[in-house]
Amino acid sequence: MKFALPASLAVGLAAAQNGSVDTWAPGGPDDYRGPCPMLNTLANHGFLPHDGKNLTQEVITTGLGNGLNFDASLTVVMFNAALIANPEPNATYFDLQMLNVHNVLEHDASLSRSDAYFGNNHVFNQTVFDTTKTYFTDELLTPDMLVNAKVFRQVQSRAYNPNYTFTSVTQEFSLGEVIAPAVAFGNITSGVVNRTLLEYFFGVQSPPALSCHVI
Ligand code: HEM
Ligand SMILES: *[C@@H]1O[C@H](CO)[C@@H](O)[C@H](O)[C@H]1NC(C)=O
Ligand SMILES: *[C@@H]1O[C@H](CO)[C@@H](O)[C@H](O)[C@H]1NC(C)=O
Ligand SMILES: *[C@@H]1O[C@H](CO)[C@@H](O)[C@H](O)[C@H]1NC(C)=O
Ligand SMILES: *[C@@H]1O[C@H](CO)[C@@H](O)[C@H](O)[C@H]1NC(C)=O
Ligand SMILES: *[C@@H]1O[C@H](CO)[C@@H](O)[C@H](O)[C@H]1NC(C)=O
Ligand SMILES: *[C@@H]1O[C@H](CO)[C@@H](O)[C@H](O)[C@H]1NC(C)=O
Ligand SMILES: *[C@@H]1O[C@H](CO)[C@@H](O)[C@H](O)[C@H]1NC(C)=O
Repeated sequence: MKFALPASLAVGLAAAQNGSVDTWAPGGPDDYRGPCPMLNTLANHGFLPHDGKNLTQEVITTGLGNGLNFDASLTVVMFNAALIANPEPNATYFDLQMLNVHNVLEHDASLSRSDAYFGNNHVFNQTVFDTTKTYFTDELLTPDMLVNAKVFRQVQSRAYNPNYTFTSVTQEFSLGEVIAPAVAFGNITSGVVNRTLLEYFFGVQSPPALSCHVI
């Protein structure tokens, strides 16, 4: 359908008991979405629960496995890193909206989201992404271009956001986020990713009225 991800984004799609590239619906008013464009997309496609709630290790492993062909050992590491977002002690799940809390996992200088200091820190922000795209100078994005965009966002935030926060932990997660699209649907060896696919993924081709739900 019109809003479905290109089939090439669904690398190695297994016989999907849940979710498909052909089904897509944005989150409704009772559904949770967060700052991660990929987790939101997987929920919109039903690879993760459409309501964005109760994401257990099993649900994340199945969703990232079916949707992206991610290896279970990698998704377990990612899941365990995400559990800190759930304020309950010894939590065994998280909800997508828990990821929105600033300076837990969500951080400043995102590629497509505003700093919390300036406004909403978790919905797609066209103004922010337009500045990021300035550094996408070819049809195939190299790691240098992706890093240039990220470094620009950091300089911009450091210059204009008096509350700018960027810790070593933020840096580690940011490196993962910058390379994640190449891992998911680019060339994992060279780190090169197709610009059209990356921009589609971030939601720039979605109708403005829907863009806050898309990713
Ligand atoms: C359990 C799995 C995952 C968790 C808990 C997670 C969590 C997050 C969080 C909290 C952010 C917000 C960071 C910020 O403030 O910008 C984020 C951003 C991001 N995530 Fe994920 N993520 C997961 C998996 C993935 C996967 C598989 C991809 C593959 C493409 C991905 C791609 C991204 C990208 C590209 C961003 C950066 C968005 C931006 O800078 O605007 N994530 N993720
Ligand atoms: C996947 O499908 C099973 C059986 O149809 C269902 O019980 C489960 O809730 C679904 N999971 C997700 C993540 O949609
Ligand atoms: C969350 O999922 C687990 C495992 O599927 C289930 O046992 C639990 O009842 C669910 N919790 C809620 C609040 O739906
Ligand atoms: C959380 O786990 C720790 C270590 O296993 C345990 O000591 C503690 O009682 C648990 N807390 C809750 C609220 O279950
Ligand atoms: C987008 O981000 C810019 C820069 O942080 C901010 O000024 C603007 O209010 C944001 N737009 C929306 C719709 O939140
Ligand atoms: C401001 O900075 C402090 C300290 O780093 C941080 O705890 C807080 O979440 C930040 N608030 C915003 C809106 O950026
Ligand atoms: C991926 O990048 C590697 C290293 O540059 C290259 O050898 C390989 O041909 C590329 N694969 C594809 C499918 O383009
Ligand atoms: C990027 O992907 C799009 C959509 O699949 C495709 O049409 C285009 O040819 C690709 N660009 C390059 C440079 O491979």
